[in-house]
Amino acid sequence: MKRIAVLASGRGSNFQAVIDAIENKQVPAICAMLITDNPEAYAIERARAKNIPVTILDFATYPSREAYEKALLRAMEQCKADLFVLAGYMRILGTGIVKAFSGKIINIHPALLPAFPGLHGQRQAIQHGVKVSGCTVHFVDESLDGGPIIVQRCVHVQEGDDEETLSSRILEYEHRCLPEAIRLFCEGRLIIDGRNVRIR
Ligand code: GRF
Repeated sequence: MKRIAVLASGRGSNFQAVIDAIENKQVPAICAMLITDNPEAYAIERARAKNIPVTILDFATYPSREAYEKALLRAMEQCKADLFVLAGYMRILGTGIVKAFSGKIINIHPALLPAFPGLHGQRQAIQHGVKVSGCTVHFVDESLDGGPIIVQRCVHVQEGDDEETLSSRILEYEHRCLPEAIRLFCEGRLIIDGRNVRIR
């Protein structure tokens, strides 16, 4: 069994999808830790309901970003996780962390990357008037949402969609995509080949 740790900052519906997939034996993993930068995150309740240990690193209490990153690096090392899953983690990971866990951090993004990286991928899609958007799970590198892509799903933008309706349809696909990517990782089926991720 692989050990995974999840980083989340908010409501944690993707975290819940991962917990459920592990419980249903769709993902051969143990969720060893939730790490959050936000003491108010609803994800914390979800972890406690399942007796998953929680590390809260309240960003506001650190004197600098460097100090926060140092504490985060230490917490991540202590997890002894095979994989770190960013599931609505609303901060950019520093270079030190990305380098320390190269090929071991994945992120879920609510757009078809490389389109609409950064915040509010769904809003950007609506504003741009695209006809198709979706979600992406990718490895994290030092770029902004630009690491090697593992899984993507398309979601059609419908007449009359706004940010909210599109977000909720994309979210349904996120909840399937993220466990799928974690399963492929845990089964040792992902091979990073430059920019490309091959699935064997
Ligand atoms: C999701 O849309 C995810 O793609 C983005 O942040 C949102 C988190 O939602 N990175 P939740 O906290 O998992 O419900």
